[in-house]
This record gives sequence, C-alpha cells and structure tokens, in this order.
Amino acid sequence: MSTTLRPPRASAPPTVPGALPVIGHGIPLVRRRLQFLQEARRYGPLVRVRVGPTTAYLVNDPALLRQVLVTDAARFPRGIHFRKARAVAGNGIITAYGAPHRRQRKLVLPAFNRKRVQVYGDVMHEIAFQRIAAWPQDSPIELKPEFVQLATTVGTKCLFSSELGGSAVRVVERALPILTRQVSLRAMDPTGLLERLPTPARRRFDETMAELNSMIQQIITSYRQSDREEVDLLTMLMAATDEDTGRGMDDQQLRDEIISILLSSAETTALTLSWSCYELGRAPEIQRRLQDEVDSVLAGRAPTHEDLGRLDLTRRIIKETLRLYPPTYFLSRAAAQDTELGGYRIPEGSIVLYSFYSQHRDPLLFRHAARFDPDRWLPGREDDVTTEAYMPFGEGAHRCVGEGFAYAEAMTTLALIAGMWHLRPVSDRPVRPVGTVTLVPDGLRMTVRRRER
Ligand code: HEM
Repeated sequence: MSTTLRPPRASAPPTVPGALPVIGHGIPLVRRRLQFLQEARRYGPLVRVRVGPTTAYLVNDPALLRQVLVTDAARFPRGIHFRKARAVAGNGIITAYGAPHRRQRKLVLPAFNRKRVQVYGDVMHEIAFQRIAAWPQDSPIELKPEFVQLATTVGTKCLFSSELGGSAVRVVERALPILTRQVSLRAMDPTGLLERLPTPARRRFDETMAELNSMIQQIITSYRQSDREEVDLLTMLMAATDEDTGRGMDDQQLRDEIISILLSSAETTALTLSWSCYELGRAPEIQRRLQDEVDSVLAGRAPTHEDLGRLDLTRRIIKETLRLYPPTYFLSRAAAQDTELGGYRIPEGSIVLYSFYSQHRDPLLFRHAARFDPDRWLPGREDDVTTEAYMPFGEGAHRCVGEGFAYAEAMTTLALIAGMWHLRPVSDRPVRPVGTVTLVPDGLRMTVRRRER
C-alpha cells in the first residue's frame, strides 16, 4: 500500500454574496462593475464570483496577485480574453504565452529600450503640437476621441516612418475601434457563436481585417525591398534575430506584432491623457503648479529626453492618474492545473480575475485612496502608498513593454497642453469612470483658454 502523504485538501474561497441562480453576479458585473469589484474586496483576499454559470476566482490581495503574475506565473497562463484576441493579433506578443511568448518578447523588447524611445520623442512632439495648437478656444472638446486620434497617429508614425505611413494612419484609425470592439464582444461570449454568425458586424470586422492586413503586408514588402535608413519600430522588429536560430521574424509574425503594438498602445495612452486633463480641470492649484514647472523647464521649447527627467510633477501627475484610472483595469489568467492560492483551492481551467482599479483604490493600501494627489509619490510620503500594490503596467513575464513609450508620449503631450492652455471642465458634475474593456470616462468634455504670458 502506498504511504504517500497528501497535503490537506484546501477549501474553496468564499463566494461574494448576492449571486442569483443561472446569471450569478451578471447584473452587478454588467451594471455597476467597478463598485462591485471594490465591494468584493471585503469578503477576503481570494473570492469566488459567478459569471453566469461559470465560477471565477477574483484576487483581492496584492501579494497573492504577485504570486499569480510573477512567482507562480507558469500555473496561471493567459485566459479567455487573450485567446479571443488571436482573431486579430494572431500569435503576437499580446496573445502568446509560455516558450513562444518568451521568444517573441526577446525580439520585441529592443524596439522599446530607452534609446529608441528617445528617437520616437520627436515624432511624438511634432504630432501632439500640430493637434493641440489647433484646439478651438472656449468650445467644448470631446477629449477621449481627440487623444485616441493623437495616440493612433503617434503609434502608426513610430511604427512606419516612411511615406506609406500617411495612408497607414487613416487605415489604422478606421480599424482600431472596430477590432477592439469585436475582440471585447467575443471575449464575453464563451459559446463562440458570435465568431461564426454571418452578422453585419462580423462582415465589417472581416473587411477591416483584410484591409489592415493588406496595408501592413504592402509596407513590410516595401521595407524588405529597400535598404532603409529609417529608425522606426518596424525596422527594429525586422532587424531582431532569435539568438538560438539566428532567424528574424517572417511576414506573418511581423504582422502579428504590429497589430499587437497598435492594439496595446493607442487607447491606453489616450485614456491616461484624458483622465489627467480631467483631474487637472478639477484641481486649479495642481494645474498652476504644472504650468509653472513646464514654463521653467521648457520655456516654450519642445521637450528633449533630458527635459522629461526634469518634469517631475508632470511625471507624478501621470503616475497618480494611472493609480486612480488604470486603463487596463480588469484582466484575467487561467489556472493551468488544479492548484492552490492563499490556502484556497482553484480547479484546473478556472478563470482567475484581478482588478488594478479596486486594488489601487483600496484605502488599506493607499491613504485617502479616492483623492487625486500627485504629491503622494514624493519622497517622505512612503506611508501613504503601498508601492508593491501599484501595478498599472502589470507585473511579471507579460509586464508592459511600452511603459517608457507611454510615459514619453503622455508627458510630452501634457507638457505641451500646460504650456499653451488652461483646461476647464464644461460642468462641475463629476465624470464617472465606466468599466468596459478599458476604463473610459462617461462623456468627458472640456474647454481650453489660451494662456497669457
Ligand atoms: C498608459 C499606457 C499603458 C498601460 C496602462 C499599459 C498596460 C499594460 C498592461 C497592464 C499589460 C500587461 C497585460 C497582462 O499582464 O496580460 C501590458 C502589456 C503590453 N503592453 Fe502596455 N500599456 C500601456 C501602453 C503601451 C504602449 C504605448 C505600448 C506600445 C507602444 C504597449 C505595448 C504593450 C505590449 C506589446 C504588451 C504585451 C507584453 C507581453 O505580453 O509580453 N503598451 N500593457
């Protein structure tokens, strides 16, 4: 007889109260998701949530989340959201996991190192300047679409700096919202029916993919046919070689990485800028300090990479915005096997959910958590923050590769705005964040008035 000792069987974690038969927590998850995620923290570090008939596990504790994303990441690979993104991003870095992901990430990372981001800085400034200088004074501007267009142009121009880049911007601008919407709809449909039904939305999606693929293929072919001097993202991706095989990426893989980068970059950076402007409009004192900083460091010039290092408050404003409004606020992994987390059992195949939004707004982790206070990140105020719980760019093997890029773009744009304009809210009514795929403002319009100097 075998005498192998088995560890005691761990129990299931508590279920958040209020689940209804069949639909589970479907109603609060759809109607008031952000509030639900915050309330769910009361019930423990790991809780069960019923997503319709499926049981998911929601991680409410930063140490456990670090375990999922970093120390035990092999047991928690990417889940359903990422599989559904394959229809768009193929086997790109945002959908791959395990060994293929590690290989791809190594190839992609050099395109985002500090030196490269410095080079993209000029493109960022030029595009942001053109748009922001043309803002209409005193008439309401819908900020989110404005910044999505700006970030899409920046992303596309940094990828393809060549002539073709101009028409590429228009194709990408048209495609991104359609692709993002389809991926998010499909992620919420475990039956897979949406992908198969010949609906008008599905047809539009197929046409958009075809147009985008053909545009990207044309650009790759033209880059392959000439000795290019450009220092853009695509050139970097094409130059990267696998250290074991010595081979570079084929056209299909390049396409997948281009789409991965476009999908990850525009909306996230645009949202960061939108929420920063919103908070500055509500905090005239912080806006005035930002203007003083920008005037004294830049004195009307375009910021260089060294200047960005001196724009200390600008950086803290972005950092604090990403605490209160992390764009990718709700993500998932899947349990690869029967496993344990925090002493609780999680069966194989279960969805593991986590929310940076609720973690960053937990008053036990951040003092006066709901308050927009960029100075909480100053040295000496360490007691007001839990640094390990701050993770807007994720953690571990899938941590964002574009953090430096995003900071450079957001800081350059915010500094330009602060140099030229006063931001004012259109109304005193607070703007609610709404949790869709990303954390979007529910109707954010602001006016601008030219600064007198
Ligand atoms: C403020 C803006 C941004 C935020 C908040 C953000 C957030 C994130 C997060 C949370 C992840 C990890 C997802 C996961 O763990 O599954 C991620 C991954 C990624 N991000 Fe970002 N991101 C931002 C901007 C950008 C930009 C500008 C780029 C590119 C230009 C970019 C490219 C990527 C890529 C390629 C990945 C996949 C990395 C991998 O799986 O190895 N992101 N991002």
